[in-house]
Amino acid sequence: MPALLITGANRGLGLGLLKLYAAEGWRVLAVCRDPARATELSAVASASNGRVTLHRADMEDIASIDALGATLKGVAIDVLVNMASYYGKAIMTEPGGLQEFGASDYADWRKIHAVNVLAVMRLCEVLVENVAASQRKVIVNLSSIAGSIGTIKAGGMGGRLYAYRASKAALNMITRAMAEDLRPRGITVVPLHPGWVKTDMGGPKADLDVATSTAGMKKVIDGLTLEKSGRYWVYDGSNMPW
Ligand SMILES: NC(=O)c1ccc[n+]([C@@H]2O[C@H](COP(=O)([O-])OP(=O)(O)OC[C@H]3O[C@@H](n4cnc5c(N)ncnc54)[C@H](OP(=O)(O)O)[C@@H]3O)[C@@H](O)[C@H]2O)c1
Repeated sequence: MPALLITGANRGLGLGLLKLYAAEGWRVLAVCRDPARATELSAVASASNGRVTLHRADMEDIASIDALGATLKGVAIDVLVNMASYYGKAIMTEPGGLQEFGASDYADWRKIHAVNVLAVMRLCEVLVENVAASQRKVIVNLSSIAGSIGTIKAGGMGGRLYAYRASKAALNMITRAMAEDLRPRGITVVPLHPGWVKTDMGGPKADLDVATSTAGMKKVIDGLTLEKSGRYWVYDGSNMPW
């Protein structure tokens, strides 16, 4: 039975995507920072005959990621999905939340980069042997169109969200570099944009519901091969300009 490890598993796209794999009989290692409060995820785990298990790690804390890795020694992971992410303070209600030029909150910048870049790098480093020991050997890092330099235009997001955008551009670079680095070991590594989706992060005005985005992402992930490694994927199967 193949195994998926996914962060950000307690809500949003992480919870949505893991349900699809659990329904197909996969073993799912569901990572979140507070399993005791992950009510919906716990219900999925309870109904899974032990195939879905909860694991704790705080993506702001490298030691916590290392501790997770230590508990998983020798466990093959076919698909590793780095889904957890921090967007920054509330956009409309907190000072500096828009992340515009001239209003940078550097404590928030650090938190955004800790979760969106450093944690992803570390989790890949810590779990690479687990992925290498699996059949599928796939790593998927959740990116965003917000990190695409090739699609930036004046106005709109271009004038704001500096910290989040920079974090996803950095995520794209480490993912692209890892794709080359890990190719000789047969490991496929890609960034994936889920679309603009109705979650806590995407908000109620987003284009897509969770079911549409996660079904598309699953199709992309299931179709990944080493030849498709290092390309910047979108949930609908297209490629995004870097
Ligand atoms: N929704 C969109 O429109 C959209 C668009 C483009 C890209 N994305 C990307 O898609 C992915 C999923 O987004 P989403 O919409 O599902 O986001 P979401 O609803 O805001 O969920 C974010 C997840 O990340 C977890 N997380 C945040 N900080 C963490 C930390 N320090 N340690 C552990 N977990 C932490 C949250 O856990 P807690 O519950 O503990 O906070 C939650 O599970 C993200 O990588 C995001 O950047 C989303």
